[in-house]
Amino acid sequence: MNYRQRYDEYLALFNAQIAVCCDRFLPVGSRVCEAARYSLLAGGKRVRAVLCMAACELLGGRAQQAAQLACAVEMLHCYSLIHDDLPCMDNDDFRRGKPSCHKAFGEATALLAGDLLLTEAFEAIAGAPVSEAARVRATAALAHGAGSAGMVYGQELDLQYENQPTGEDVLRRVHRNKTGALINAAMQMGAAAADGAEEDCRRLEQFAYDLGLVFQIVDDVLDVTSTSEELGKPVGSDAENHKTTFATLYGPQGAMDLAQKINAEACGRLERAYGERSEFLTALAGSLLRRRT
Ligand code: IPE
Ligand code: IPE
Ligand code: MG
Ligand code: MG
Ligand code: MG
Repeated sequence: MNYRQRYDEYLALFNAQIAVCCDRFLPVGSRVCEAARYSLLAGGKRVRAVLCMAACELLGGRAQQAAQLACAVEMLHCYSLIHDDLPCMDNDDFRRGKPSCHKAFGEATALLAGDLLLTEAFEAIAGAPVSEAARVRATAALAHGAGSAGMVYGQELDLQYENQPTGEDVLRRVHRNKTGALINAAMQMGAAAADGAEEDCRRLEQFAYDLGLVFQIVDDVLDVTSTSEELGKPVGSDAENHKTTFATLYGPQGAMDLAQKINAEACGRLERAYGERSEFLTALAGSLLRRRT
């Protein structure tokens, strides 16, 4: 398996489909749609899209079937970033190497652009070329991962624990909700497109939450060790907002050691369950552990 080639194939599928989604769901002529496109098309690693398509293929589906679901999860993710950057949240002025949405378009338009991406994500699922049952499953998965048992709840906890020293248990709960839940949603949507069995979905869920935790630990470390040029978003944001992170709890190296351990265990489990077929996902997990952006 050529990991990079396969990642690029997923990206190409995603890029073609997101152009279609933009035309359909974010039409030109509206300032809010323009702001939504500005943030959505500014780049990003598209990890959640790739996970969605890779989960679909792991369970015997075709990546193309999951492409519009992959767009939906990236639209929802992009909304979470726009709102996360607002002055009332993390108050960050850069995102994906450009002024954040509210810096470029003003707060009210950015707020609405986030609302729009959240809403249109579900219209994208409704129109995805998969079975009706898969559309229902994908809708439930995304709503679950994004709402009161997922990302929004995680963001609530994240704000609640600003200025308040916390321990590993709390931090794991914050990260599981604010980051893990949407990563899991991406994989469950891909599984739905492949008509995946319950047992496979549970295995992917465990992998996704581990991957999400590792992903957010690395994000916390990069906020301390990287540069804003390399990251495309401000560094030092967590310290400025007095957040406890894995980097403040254990230091950057200690945090990375923990991330490495969680990653190794998660990849080992997936490999034992799926053998060679797990290769792409375990390679992806490794590259997210080592990422610099
Ligand atoms: C940033 O997500 C927010 C977190 C959950 C850490 P990404 O690091 O996936 O951001 P993009 O999509 O690549 O810009
Ligand atoms: C955000 O976590 C997670 C979201 C739900 C958007 P962060 O606040 O650490 O993400 P960045 O560092 O701004 O991308
Ligand atoms: Mg935040
Ligand atoms: Mg932030
Ligand atoms: Mg961060």
